[in-house]
Amino acid sequence: MNRFENQIAIVTGAGRGIGESIAKSFAAGGGKVACVSRSDSAAKVAEAINATHPGAARAYCVDVANKKAVEEVGAQIFADFGKVDILVNNAGITRDGLAMRMSEEDWDAVLDTNLKGAFNFIQAVMRPMIKQRSGRIINISSVAGLMGNAGQANYAASKAGLLGLTKTLARELAGRGITVNAVAPGFIKTDMTDVLPEAIKTGVLSQIPMGRFGEPEDIAAAVTFLASAAAKYVTGQTLTVDGGMVMA
Ligand code: NAI
Repeated sequence: MNRFENQIAIVTGAGRGIGESIAKSFAAGGGKVACVSRSDSAAKVAEAINATHPGAARAYCVDVANKKAVEEVGAQIFADFGKVDILVNNAGITRDGLAMRMSEEDWDAVLDTNLKGAFNFIQAVMRPMIKQRSGRIINISSVAGLMGNAGQANYAASKAGLLGLTKTLARELAGRGITVNAVAPGFIKTDMTDVLPEAIKTGVLSQIPMGRFGEPEDIAAAVTFLASAAAKYVTGQTLTVDGGMVMA
């Protein structure tokens, strides 16, 4: 199904995990993808995509928290592809610890990457999207942003912040043909969650009605729906994909 034919997508944090799966899904749907990561990992993902979909992917190395560098990479992506139809702000990090002991550095690093990083990329694409009077922006939040999570004050604040950003931009851009939505994953099996102690994983598992963790493909399916023509009347929403963990 070529539902993303002639569509250009930017996926941040595309070097592995959920971002890699999202990037591959766009390519599988006939789209072209700018795979962004802060390391050269996105180059390997772009290479894998091009092996099956020649010319569908290009890799870009940038720290999303660096506004000036994001502006430059954004300009490069427009130069390479000519336009951008879809932006997925997926890059994210954790620096967990109880609030009482959390360092300023850990607070700033998480907020700068997860929240400011998303805003940086939005500002890099929104003017041309407004001009072309179409676009899709999808921010990857988290159930931690919906319900809070002990030991993740910085992360939960950044992910809740993304929801406020999503709703505000949805209102600002609705009249310009641009939708802005969020996806809030529950516990998904990636390198990010692999490192958690077994006791935490068991505790989380007991809160998931479906009794299992999700796969990156579960999030990619939600993102590609929101990016597709089928979701043209959906904006300002948060699609929670969590096996029933949070039922708002
Ligand atoms: P991951 O750690 O496996 O991958 C994150 C990717 O983001 C990596 O490619 C990394 O290089 C990139 N990245 C990190 N900081 C960056 C920066 N400053 N600039 C550019 N790229 C950067 O993480 P995972 O699990 O794939 O998560 C992806 C997104 O989904 C994150 O925003 C995460 O917070 C969110 N999420 C993940 C959940 C999970 O259970 N795995 C649950 C809820 C949300």
